[in-house]
Amino acid sequence: MTDLSPESGSVQPLRVNGERLISRLDELGAIGAIEGTIGCARLALTDDDKAGRDLVRTWMDELGLDITVDGIGNVIATMPGFDHGIAPVMTGSHIDTVATGGRYDGNLGVLAGLEVIETVMTARLDLPRPLAVGWFTDEEGARFAPDMLGSLVYVGGLALEEALTITDRDGLSVGGELERIGYLGSAPIPGAVPHAFVELHIEQGPILEDEGIQLGAVEAVQGISWTELTIIGQSCHAGTTPMRLRRDPGVVAARINVFVRELAERFGGAQVATCGVVSHVPNLVNVVPSKVTMTVDLRNTDDATLEAAEAEFHAFVADAAAAEGVTVTARSLARFASVEFDDRVAEMIEAAAAERGHSIRRMCSGAGHDAQMFARICPTAMIFTPSVNGISHNVTEYTEPADIEAGANVLLDVMLRLAASDLS
Ligand code: GLV
Ligand code: MN
Ligand code: MN
Repeated sequence: MTDLSPESGSVQPLRVNGERLISRLDELGAIGAIEGTIGCARLALTDDDKAGRDLVRTWMDELGLDITVDGIGNVIATMPGFDHGIAPVMTGSHIDTVATGGRYDGNLGVLAGLEVIETVMTARLDLPRPLAVGWFTDEEGARFAPDMLGSLVYVGGLALEEALTITDRDGLSVGGELERIGYLGSAPIPGAVPHAFVELHIEQGPILEDEGIQLGAVEAVQGISWTELTIIGQSCHAGTTPMRLRRDPGVVAARINVFVRELAERFGGAQVATCGVVSHVPNLVNVVPSKVTMTVDLRNTDDATLEAAEAEFHAFVADAAAAEGVTVTARSLARFASVEFDDRVAEMIEAAAAERGHSIRRMCSGAGHDAQMFARICPTAMIFTPSVNGISHNVTEYTEPADIEAGANVLLDVMLRLAASDLS
């Protein structure tokens, strides 16, 4: 067998088929395509998500992989021919998108994983353990909160029964929608613990492009806090009601939006804050709103600072509501502490990139990822490729083919090295 150990210093001669990978990204991106753009919308467990799932599953089937679907709809495809019970080296990501998404976020990690496995199987490499690629349900959290739902349930971070009852804005449940699209599977939850997990993903930010570096070795993911606020006031006529007699939830929402922006600026460092949803009822020009629903997304690499930001935010909400005479209820949609990845896996990524002649830097992820859930159960790290103009969660999201191929080749090298390493 070829010596694949990290100590061997051998550079794998194998290369992925970059053209096949990009043509699959394009084919998948055509499902739910947003007209006139290169973006797509495949919110989790919609008909378009089902069509995307079916397409990727066809490719996995054609390769003869062993495919399982678990109770939260995660799909894992493993190289055949190994004794059951030998833990695989796993890669993967998600194929759901936000409503204004691109074709690379998540999809790259899944299709690059498939490409790595196809490359290894075609080369008939003799591996000590199988490689596996998965996609995890509702990573985006754009339809069902929290984000990373499928991988959270896979690693035992949320009970399956609870996850299946989560509803979207129309009251449709995860369980009902999984059943409707035919992806309510029976593979056990929590899922089997992989030997190691490594995820390739686009950076979704501007750092690699700005610094002219081709790849990132991701060593951490920042903490995430999502809150939904429902603010109830008194709807009334916009022309007849004196300002002093108003109880306007829209004004309170606006104050909260400005407050969290200023809080992030005041905290500085890694602190970010976003009000992505501000939804007025009845949303009419001449009516003071009765109700506003809004979301606040706070993130920081430092958990204590994130907690301090949350405390200030909640105190401000209470004061602003009292001052306007409105009521507010707060619901936590997602709360994940920051995550540190396995240094040995990050080092393997750096070494593989260097051997392939690619520039690489260590970095922290600003976005949430399925890998951060796997870090709870096995050695894990991530590879980032640059995002043109640093744009993601947007239809203009784009990554250059050469960068995609570079990332996939490093994924290939790292998966082979992980397969040969005992990591104990
Ligand atoms: C998931 O994409 C996130 O919001 O970080
Ligand atoms: Mn993603
Ligand atoms: Mn995303």
